[in-house]
Amino acid sequence: MELPAQLRQGVDSLLEKVPVAALKQAAKTLSERYRAELRDGRLHMGEEMAVKAYLATRLPATYAAVRASLEALAGARPDFRPASLLDIGAGPGTMLWATTDAWPELERAVLVEASAAVRKAGQSLAEGAIAARADWIAGDATIDLDGIETAELVSAAYVLDEIVPASLPKLIDHLWRLTADTLLIVEPGTPAGWQRILAARRQLIGAGAHVLAPCPHEVPCPLTPPDWCHFARRVARSRLHRLVKEAEVPWEDEKFIYLAASRQPAPARPARVIAPPKGGSGKVVLKLCQPGGGAGERLFSKRDGDVFKAARRADWGDTLG
Ligand SMILES: C[S@@+](CC[C@H](N)C(=O)[O-])C[C@H]1O[C@@H](n2cnc3c(N)ncnc32)[C@H](O)[C@@H]1O
Repeated sequence: MELPAQLRQGVDSLLEKVPVAALKQAAKTLSERYRAELRDGRLHMGEEMAVKAYLATRLPATYAAVRASLEALAGARPDFRPASLLDIGAGPGTMLWATTDAWPELERAVLVEASAAVRKAGQSLAEGAIAARADWIAGDATIDLDGIETAELVSAAYVLDEIVPASLPKLIDHLWRLTADTLLIVEPGTPAGWQRILAARRQLIGAGAHVLAPCPHEVPCPLTPPDWCHFARRVARSRLHRLVKEAEVPWEDEKFIYLAASRQPAPARPARVIAPPKGGSGKVVLKLCQPGGGAGERLFSKRDGDVFKAARRADWGDTLG
């Protein structure tokens, strides 16, 4: 998956003339902070160089994860066409761009972001390129959401991991109250990211939400550690990305986990493929999360006829049936 051309051009022009050595150092610091899930009272993207490092090394991957999560949401609710978006921890506007790509008719967006440096980059990238009216709000989403209007789509991507765990239930409750239709949460596809999604899922189901995706049910998750639910998207690496990360391969696989919870039920909830398919001649093994609440591997062979054909086409993250 690639960034939309206009976003790519905007990012390239913001990164023009930035010395690669400085970008490399900033990317290293940023990546160490993210990996450690450091919560020391400082924002990871408080400084301009950290924002530039994010644009060069993280934005393509978070965009791909967010866009794939929106695709799953749209697959579960084909009638959903949000006119309004409220995105918290908006960063450089990743969700705004991905939502516009999914639903170009989006009319207005409110983006809450604590860091002035990344808000500035996000505003400059969106200006003149995004048709929806976008208002960027400076604030801490754990305390400053009062007075904000409800939106049809409410989202938080790669944000919960930056918030102290004790503040999460109140934040989730607030986001759900601001959700007129559907709430989408995206997190890194790590065991810790999955645990945060599971906690939000339990809380939202308790509040009456319908799960649209990825789970085809509302019963407790059938997976147990060390297993964990996550998906992946292959992302092309730009030349600058390769230089900054000293990477040789021209792509990376971004692992992510998400939850789309809605006030409206999905018309149907088929099984979902929750691991890379294992193929062989005339057969394929899919690990499926089933509508009844179970999960496990199932072998499909030519004898299954059309079901086999569908199973052979299904990829990790797709629905089957
Ligand atoms: C990893 S970035 C993700 C940005 C964007 N959502 C994306 O997917 O690319 C997390 C963003 O959340 C912001 N953030 C963290 N805690 C916040 C809070 N309490 N209130 C508002 N924004 C916050 C950070 O400044 C950062 O821009």
